[in-house]
Order: sequence, then C-alpha cells, then structure tokens
Amino acid sequence: MKIAQFSFCVITILVSECSCQEITYKNVTFFDNHMIITTTHQGRSLQEFLPDDPVESLTILGTIPVLYKDAIINVSNVRELHLYNNKIEQIHPEAFKNLVGVELLEMKYSDFITIKKGIFNDLAIRKLIVAYNHQLETVEEGAFDNPHIETLELTVSVIKTLPKNIFQKMAKLKTLDLTGNLLSSIPPEFLKLGLESVYFSYNRLTSIPGGVFTGHQTLQEVNLADNNVSLIDSSAFDHMLQLKSVNLAHNKLTTIDPEWFYNSSSVTRLNLHRNFFEDIPDEAFKNLHGEVEKIVLSECRVKNISCGAFKGIKMVRSLDLRMNEIEKWDAGFLTGLKEIRSLMLSANKIKCPDGDFNDVFKAEYTYVGLNPLDVDCLEKIEDWMKLESSKGHVVCTEESCFD
Ligand SMILES: *[C@@H]1O[C@H](CO)[C@@H](O)[C@H](O)[C@H]1NC(C)=O
Ligand SMILES: *[C@@H]1O[C@H](CO)[C@@H](O)[C@H](O)[C@H]1NC(C)=O
Ligand SMILES: *[C@@H]1O[C@H](CO)[C@@H](O)[C@H](O)[C@H]1NC(C)=O
Ligand SMILES: *[C@@H]1O[C@H](CO)[C@@H](O)[C@H](O)[C@H]1NC(C)=O
Ligand SMILES: *[C@@H]1O[C@H](CO)[C@@H](O)[C@H](O)[C@H]1NC(C)=O
Repeated sequence: MKIAQFSFCVITILVSECSCQEITYKNVTFFDNHMIITTTHQGRSLQEFLPDDPVESLTILGTIPVLYKDAIINVSNVRELHLYNNKIEQIHPEAFKNLVGVELLEMKYSDFITIKKGIFNDLAIRKLIVAYNHQLETVEEGAFDNPHIETLELTVSVIKTLPKNIFQKMAKLKTLDLTGNLLSSIPPEFLKLGLESVYFSYNRLTSIPGGVFTGHQTLQEVNLADNNVSLIDSSAFDHMLQLKSVNLAHNKLTTIDPEWFYNSSSVTRLNLHRNFFEDIPDEAFKNLHGEVEKIVLSECRVKNISCGAFKGIKMVRSLDLRMNEIEKWDAGFLTGLKEIRSLMLSANKIKCPDGDFNDVFKAEYTYVGLNPLDVDCLEKIEDWMKLESSKGHVVCTEESCFD
C-alpha cells in the first residue's frame, strides 16, 4: 500500500514535470473576432482549441511565456492570427509551421528580445506584423528569409541596427514598415528591388546620403517623418521613376535643395511640414514637373521667398504655406507656375499682398485668413472680387477658412 502510493506519487511528478515543459497554453483565451471561443486550462498546440468552422480573425489573449515547439502548427481554417498581449519571452524555432490559408500573423505586446533565425521562414503568409514589443532589440541574420511575405511591419520596438541583407530573401516584399525604432541609418542593401513603400518614421535618422534611395526603380512611397534629419544629399532621391510620395515632416532640415528629385518626375506629394526653412530659394521645386498633388511647407518658419521660388512647377493642386512668418507675398512668386488650385497662406504676417491681384490670386482658392491684413487691403480684395477678371477665383480672408 505504502509502496504503491509512493510510486504513484513519483509517476505523477515525473509525468507532470515532463509535460509541463512543453505546455504553451495555460489559462489563455481564444477569440473569433470578439467572441470567446474557449478559455483553456492547458494545451500544447493551437489546433486543439479551434472549431471546425473557418475562423476569420483569431485572437489569442493571455500570458504565454514560451511558445514551444508545435505551438502554432497545422492551422488551416484561420485567416488572421493575432497574438496579443501574451508577454512571450521565447519562441521555439519550430513554434510556427504549416499555416495553410493564414494570411496575416500579428504579434503585439510581447517581451521577447530577439527574433531568432528561421522562426518565420516556412510560413506562407502575406503579412507579418511584429509591433509594440518594447524589449525587441535584436533580429538575427536569416530571421526573415521568407519568400511569401508581402508586407512586413517591425514597428515600435528598440531595434538600433539590423543585420546586413536581412530582407534580401524576401522575394515578394512590397511594404516595409520600421516605424518607431532606434535606427540611425538606412543601410542601402535594405532597399531591395521590388519594394514599393518604406516607412522609417520615428527613428533616429539624422542624414540621408546619396545612394540609399537613388535610382530605386520600384519605390513609390518613402516616409522619413519624425526623425532628426538635417541633411539630405542632393542626389538622394534622383532617378526614381516610380516615386510619388515623400514625407519629411517633423525633421531638422534648414535648406531646400532645388536639385532634389532630379529625374524623379512622378513625385506628386511632398511633405516638409515642421522643418526650419527660413528661405525658399529660386526654383526650389523645379524637378517636380509632373502633376503635383501637394507640397506642404506649413510651420516651417518661412520668412523669405525668392522671386522664382515656385517656377518650374507645371501644376499643383495644393501649396500649403500656413503658419509661417511670411510678411511679403508678391505676385511674382507664382510666375512660372502654370496651374494652382489651392494656395494656403493662412496664419502668416502678410499685411497686403503686392502686385497685380490677377496674379496674386491666380489659384482657384487662396486662403489668407489669420494674417494682419490691413483695412485698405481688405477693401482692395473686395473690389477685385467684383471684377470680371476674378471669376473662378475665390479669396478667403476669414479665420474660418483656416483649412
Ligand atoms: C487567468 O487569466 C486571467 C486573465 O488573464 C486572470 O485574471 C486569472 O487570474 C488567471 N487564472 C489563473 C488560474 O491563473
Ligand atoms: C501536423 O501535420 C503533420 C502533417 O500532416 C503531421 O505529421 C503532424 O503530426 C501534425 N502535428 C501535430 C502536432 O498535429
Ligand atoms: C533629436 O535630437 C534631439 C537632440 O538634438 C534629441 O533630444 C531627440 O530625442 C532626437 N529625436 C529623435 C527622434 O531622434
Ligand atoms: C532617369 O532614370 C532612369 C532610370 O534610373 C535612367 O535610365 C535614365 O537614364 C535617367 N535619365 C536621366 C536624364 O538621367
Ligand atoms: C531672401 O533670399 C534671397 C535669395 O535667396 C536673398 O538674396 C535675400 O538676401 C534674402 N533676404 C532676407 C531678408 O533674408
């Protein structure tokens, strides 16, 4: 009796210790969209908890210190898989395997420090989001040798550097989002051909040398906002035939280089909001000679505008110069600019624009609210608006036209 009890005890301890090592799921809840599927006491592999019916969006909530081998394998009826707030510290190299039909895999709010080589390599997913993992600082070489992923978001972590050629084997990668890390440079080899959009906002970039983006043949969108960029090489964005949108807002640029965007004539959106340009030089945007949707120069402390500043632009839908320190606005500034829909000059220091109002207000809409316009000037504008020649042009002098 005693011996039997004793051996039963030993066996129980052995059994539980052995299985404990590999139990990934303990007190974890599974949701289909927002509906609870089940809360589990324990289990090793996700498919034990899945219903037979297809699941559109599966969320796994609860603490999972380790994703053991086989934790997420042989899943075939889930489209999106969200691992959310799991505080995962370790991921076994064989934790993910054979996910057929899973399009999106997302891991947010976990505690792992490293993405190890090979974890994601065999997954036929289209989108991988690894975000808000505030301890994540290291990505091993080979971590993303995946030929299927089209969108990779590796955001809001503490990555300072990435290994050379880390994205080279991602044959289908089109969108790369590294927003919110601590990167201080963009190694040129990141920008493999095929990429269409790259996001580097909220990093620690201070300069954009030539050669990083120059000549890239597929990039359409480059977001470098919210860094500390104070220097951009003249040739940084040259010969990029597909480039459409460049966001440089919230940086430390002090000069606009008229040589930027040489032979990149598809650029249609340029955001320079919140930089520190006192001057807008002659022909500042001469290389943007396609149909430009918008140029944003708001809150840039602009004071001095050169006479031919906007010469060379054929057509611009919106030129945004709001919230600067412009005192002098001259009809001449718009000469050489063929067509402009919306000119935003609100919140500057203009008392009255100089020159022929037919030229000053050549835009379809000109916004001059929140300027210290003097009474004479307001009268002059009103008189001009009554003229036949002002037809088709609206001038808004009110605060309510701020936007
Ligand atoms: C299970 O998890 C919930 C919420 O995550 C927690 O409130 C509860 O205390 C846990 N139960 C056990 C037995 O750990
Ligand atoms: C996963 O699927 C493979 C192939 O169908 C099978 O050999 C393996 O036993 C499965 N593993 C688990 C844990 O279900
Ligand atoms: C920019 O530089 C300043 C100091 O010059 C620093 O305090 C700030 O954190 C930096 N910002 C970024 C986004 O790196
Ligand atoms: C413009 O860029 C394309 C592609 O990089 C290149 O083939 C072409 O020679 C360039 N044209 C000029 C005028 O530099
Ligand atoms: C304004 O810019 C022009 C040309 O860039 C320069 O010649 C002029 O001195 C500047 N004026 C002021 C007041 O800074």
